[in-house]
Amino acid sequence: MQTEHTPSSVNSSSVLRVELGMRSYPIHIGPGVFSEAGRLLRAAYSGRRAFVVSNPTVASYHLAALQQGLGAAGIAVEVWQAPDGEHAKNWEELYKILGWLLESRAERQTPLIALGGGVVGDLAGLAAALYQRGMPLIQAPTSLLAQVDSSVGGKTAVNHPLGKNMIGAFYQPQQVWIDTNTLSTLPSHEYISGLAEVVKYGAIRDRAFFDWLEKNTEALLAREPTVVGYAIHQSCRNKAMIVAADERETGERALLNLGHTFGHTIEAALGYGEWLHGEAVAAGMVLAGRLSTRVCGFDESEQQRLERLLAAFGLPLTCPDFPLETWMTLMGRDKKVADGKMRFVLLERLGHAVVRQDIGEDVLAQAIRG
Ligand code: NAD
Ligand code: GLY
Repeated sequence: MQTEHTPSSVNSSSVLRVELGMRSYPIHIGPGVFSEAGRLLRAAYSGRRAFVVSNPTVASYHLAALQQGLGAAGIAVEVWQAPDGEHAKNWEELYKILGWLLESRAERQTPLIALGGGVVGDLAGLAAALYQRGMPLIQAPTSLLAQVDSSVGGKTAVNHPLGKNMIGAFYQPQQVWIDTNTLSTLPSHEYISGLAEVVKYGAIRDRAFFDWLEKNTEALLAREPTVVGYAIHQSCRNKAMIVAADERETGERALLNLGHTFGHTIEAALGYGEWLHGEAVAAGMVLAGRLSTRVCGFDESEQQRLERLLAAFGLPLTCPDFPLETWMTLMGRDKKVADGKMRFVLLERLGHAVVRQDIGEDVLAQAIRG
């Protein structure tokens, strides 16, 4: 197996920091982080209770380890299990969690731990933001997507029938606990979907990481712990820097949406859950790259590298064949639309993305048609 050495400064465990002044927080990454949960929480909390929101799938695999880690510091947990799946990210489930917290007499300083993928993280995160105007939130992500993206940066939300993630808040966690051991139970298609977001960081701002990913595809697919740990570390490092520079997405943070305008359109047009988010983002990144070759001088050879890497991970390169009208209507609902104009994240080169809003409909249509 061809394995490029992971830079030696990153062992299997690492700690990063999201620098946001008084709201700065650590990201603990490594195998067995949950066994340290009690010690980590004690740094900020002296009470004996903590609340956990999870779902039945994740809880069945990973709740015990977290409970044990917290128990070692004398912290007992009370657990709420939301249904598994994107459909649980709604107002009703949010309201149930808030009711449970009230009935349990959760206090304002009692931590709420989100144990699960991005659905649990977004749902529990919004509950934490709302309960008594904000209780401490710990993100304990268990899917690769949540570990490299959704657990960091403070975006929390539920879906509305009229749009995904339309009801939400920016609410930063106080700590992020990424126990890489949890990935051992993650289904293959979910793991691969998460790899699309990993590729995204290389493409938008970290060319050396992109090169490294190309050399480590097999090790990543085999989930080699040190290699996966480094990929998570480097993804979180990139995300932490972007969030520190632009917490509320008034500028640079929009770059994290490479492929997402097209990806969200695929998800919405097919119906959520038909394609996984990362799969839609992968095909969306290919389309964004193709558009970039037309309008940003993105080199064809770099586009081929992007496509080769995504294909090596088994991610889709081609978008479903929707009528142009469907694309235009659904893309018009994107949260990046400003003053009625669509904005696109495009690549000038691998490792350097830009936001453009001056794309003519004819050029866009040509790129979509291939
Ligand atoms: P998910 O939370 O639905 O998890 C995917 C599936 O994997 C679920 O069935 C889950 O139960 C299961 N799972 C999770 N961890 C597991 C483990 N260790 N072992 C076995 N099964 C496990 O989906 P996701 O891909 O993690 O997240 C997608 C959600 O994240 C979407 O709602 C999206 O909007 C949101 N998101 C948010 C942000 C943000 O910045 N807040 C960023 C990206 C995505
Ligand atoms: N996942 C996009 C963001 O956090 O901004």
